[in-house]
Amino acid sequence: MAVILGIESSCDDTAAAVLSNGKLLANVVAGQEIHKAWGGVIPELASRAHQENIIPVVAEAIKRAGISNNDIDAIAFTRGPGLLGSLLVGTSFAKGFAHALNKPLIEVNHMQAHILAHFIEDETPRAKPEFPFVCLTVSGGHTQLVLINDPYTFEVLGETQDDAAGEAFDKTAKILGLPYPGGPLIDKHAASGNPERFRFPQANVPDYSFSFSGLKTSVLYFVRDETAKNPDFVKENINDICASVQHSIILHLLKKLRAVISDRNIKCIALAGGVSANSGLRKAITSLGEELQIQVCIPPFAYCTDNAAMIAMSGEFLYRKQQFAPLNTAPLARYPL
Ligand code: KG4
Ligand code: ZN
Repeated sequence: MAVILGIESSCDDTAAAVLSNGKLLANVVAGQEIHKAWGGVIPELASRAHQENIIPVVAEAIKRAGISNNDIDAIAFTRGPGLLGSLLVGTSFAKGFAHALNKPLIEVNHMQAHILAHFIEDETPRAKPEFPFVCLTVSGGHTQLVLINDPYTFEVLGETQDDAAGEAFDKTAKILGLPYPGGPLIDKHAASGNPERFRFPQANVPDYSFSFSGLKTSVLYFVRDETAKNPDFVKENINDICASVQHSIILHLLKKLRAVISDRNIKCIALAGGVSANSGLRKAITSLGEELQIQVCIPPFAYCTDNAAMIAMSGEFLYRKQQFAPLNTAPLARYPL
């Protein structure tokens, strides 16, 4: 029986969670409104906000879990990948807290944690992915197809050659004049739009690679040309534009996922990362699973975008193997799976 405190600070969310033997006791996330005004995350502002938030967020998680500091068996933190300044805040706090409590430290890879979020147990029972499974991880910084043989073995089969899927959503939103992060807003507009109204070209990249930078450029030119003819074009067609761009992103993701499933005879697929909150993508993957008669695992919304429950879950697996980190550990902005 282990009680793990998880700490996440890789980008613009300060988060802490407590897990007891894989069961969630508390999950606290403080977002950072400050970036909205700038149309994207400003690293230095993110670090400062993490510094303000980290102590109250951890204290709140421990309080909500109904435990005391001494009940914690280990402290798991995001070592990377992410923004170095942001990672430094969580890492330094975790090191200080572990030292003060005389408890072991566990370093967690954020991208592994997004995938292992499928193993968190909470009040809503759901099926866990069966090994081996393939996960489509789609976030603001990554787009990867990963083969997971067990909770410790991850093989990246393919990834994006340029922008991540989340960036494709966020950059499109910016072109349309929507605030950051644009993904959820595109999703909302797309719900009442026609996905077949406008066509955007699909990137032609080999194997299981992805590419989204061409899509962003074609949206940019399309909006520029249409707005020259009608200045209200975006306002009048926002739902159809969002639905069409979203459709194009989903088509590209699903094409590669289909190829992996068939080439490797995969029987279980999972979705992870912030973009897995997208309702169109969730629907498309569910239909794909039904069509191919394979298991599909879609994370609950709370574990799609950045959170610390997934860091604690990753920490729980590493705790079982007693894989602890030294107190002189340092964050890594780049940290391969
Ligand atoms: O995993 P995440 O919280 O942070 C990273 O590790 O990057 O992912 C954030 C990304 C952003 O690009 C955001 O726009 C996107 O996830 N996102 C969505 C939706 N919710 C979040 N994209 C499309 N539809 C959504 N509903
Ligand atoms: Zn993330």
